[in-house]
Amino acid sequence: MRGELPPFVVVVVAAALLGGCRPSATSEASMITGGDIERGRSAIGKYGCAACHTIPGIHGANATVGPPLDRIAVRSYLAGHLTNSPGNMMKWIQHPQEVDPKNVMPNMGVTDEDARDIAAYLYTLR
Ligand code: HEC
Repeated sequence: MRGELPPFVVVVVAAALLGGCRPSATSEASMITGGDIERGRSAIGKYGCAACHTIPGIHGANATVGPPLDRIAVRSYLAGHLTNSPGNMMKWIQHPQEVDPKNVMPNMGVTDEDARDIAAYLYTLR
């Protein structure tokens, strides 16, 4: 029998091979932060980050008070002060005033867990 593989088998195998070679942006974001992307999305809404930032994928987040957070995952520095790493991202989200007392982003009392989840979401933005 010389039949060809049904197309759906080809698609499934291709997806498995691709998935095995390189983690997707989302799985990588939760891996490097240990956070939960979907919980991060709702925490961003809860803390009102959208009052100041344009954030892709967050409904209504199109403010221009602070810098837009698109492609934040691939930037070299955060807020011009910190090298961009998961630890520094959480530090900035929780204590922006400690990092730079002259900047206007307020300390919003973000919990450790929420900061981790928010960082996971932000690292999907590449
Ligand atoms: C009152 C306005 C305001 C709110 C609310 C706010 N931010 Fe900011 N944010 C800023 C400003 C202004 C900056 C730029 C600070 C700087 O560069 O010195 C900033 C910078 C940042 C950066 C670094 C951006 C870059 O381009 O390097 C991140 C990440 C960030 N904010 C995330 C958040 C998150 C997450 C929340 C919600 C928990 C939030 N912000 C809430 C005003 C705000």
